[in-house]
Amino acid sequence: MSAEQDGTPAARLARRARQVVPGGVNSGQRSIPGLTDLVVTGTAGARFRTADGREFTDFHAAFGPPLLGHNDPDVARATEEAGRSLGHMGVGITEGEVHLAEQLAELIPSVEKLLLTSTGSEATFHALRVARAATGRRLIVKFQGCYHGWHDAVSLNVISAPEKVGGHDPISTGILPEVLAATLVLPFNDSEAVRSAFAEHGQDIAAVIVEPVPHNVGALLPHQEFLRTLREETTKAGSVLVFDEVITGFRHDLGGWQRISGVTPDLTTLGKAIANGAPVAALGGRADLMDLFSTTPGAPAFFAGTYNGHPSVVAAALATLRKLREEPVHEHVFRLGDRVRRELTALYDRLGVPAVVTGYGSVFVTYFMPGFTPDAPPRTYRDLLANDASLFVGYRRHLTEHGLFELPLNLKRSHISYAHTDADIDRLLEGTEAAVGAALAEGGVRDLSHTSTMGGALA
Ligand SMILES: Cc1ncc(COP(=O)(O)O)c(C=O)c1O
Repeated sequence: MSAEQDGTPAARLARRARQVVPGGVNSGQRSIPGLTDLVVTGTAGARFRTADGREFTDFHAAFGPPLLGHNDPDVARATEEAGRSLGHMGVGITEGEVHLAEQLAELIPSVEKLLLTSTGSEATFHALRVARAATGRRLIVKFQGCYHGWHDAVSLNVISAPEKVGGHDPISTGILPEVLAATLVLPFNDSEAVRSAFAEHGQDIAAVIVEPVPHNVGALLPHQEFLRTLREETTKAGSVLVFDEVITGFRHDLGGWQRISGVTPDLTTLGKAIANGAPVAALGGRADLMDLFSTTPGAPAFFAGTYNGHPSVVAAALATLRKLREEPVHEHVFRLGDRVRRELTALYDRLGVPAVVTGYGSVFVTYFMPGFTPDAPPRTYRDLLANDASLFVGYRRHLTEHGLFELPLNLKRSHISYAHTDADIDRLLEGTEAAVGAALAEGGVRDLSHTSTMGGALA
């Protein structure tokens, strides 16, 4: 029965949404084919409920913020308390903002000074703006498969169709061609390509921006030598190196991937897990760069935002940070993540399904393609072109029949939180076996030399 004919409250609400909200959702990747009546009514820990009375164990986790789990009680309490005592003033500063900046500067190697924004996109936007302000240069370098938000300079070459790889592949219309032309797109993990780009354009490159682990296409683990090459080439050319740690920051380590890798960028962007789901993000880095922002009177790079540093979200970030520092959160999610990767790998071996389970810490993803192992995982976007998208999406659709939710969009990663338990992982393993079986029965593993449908799934 179609949503239009179905009279359930969920279907009616979803239909009303489509009448007043374009597409019925408020962000580009929330409308899922086959799940158009998904109306969420409640979240708690590792679960969410829907208006039609279903409950799911959530491995999507809103694209990553709730590292502690949904509605963490300590974060909720801190937010409520702040809401009762401190409204948003839009003048001066609050004690919470100072505490937060001090702690982030202490934890994250590159951060000497830090500014708050509401979203990761704003943080990456300002990183590139200040890089251009500092260098007086035009070009930005990004990498195929990385996502840095919705603004024009970086809105290209995320999940590209095979024939688009190697050229400019904007994810939106409405972007000036000259803006796209000012962004060079290089293959991730390809040091030679980076050296060549710098040999040719070095004196015109303002910034290199990179997700140190490109999680917007699942998980491409970086070669250490690649990250070092980025550091060396940007330093030699006087360009600004930006690590976009909106996903990796806090989730993989309180010091971000830069602490794990020992490669320190000039600027760092943070978001998502830093406040367990409250809308706050940050841009931090070298003091000489950060002091170019107009929060310093007379400085040239304009920076503003009505909600920047809002007391409630700052309280959420401080409470999140406190819990991450005081409780064995990383230990728990890393253990469950290792278990998922290990046991899923064994499951696919037993089923004889060509697959590689990869990821890091609390993040996992299974690509359906032969030729890779957990010890030799895919490292480039081109590797991912062999993924069987129909099986990737198909088993995730069937997972919902077992009360399990991994986002049914191609190449999307999954997340484990502090609220997930071993019993949740047991259920995931059982459900995955059944769901993969059902997806295979529908179509079988298609010709694996065939490339996937790569469009339509970012964030
Ligand atoms: C690595 C990365 N950078 C930036 C962004 C943009 O953040 P936001 O959606 O908060 O604007 C995202 C969002 O998914 C992201 O994954």
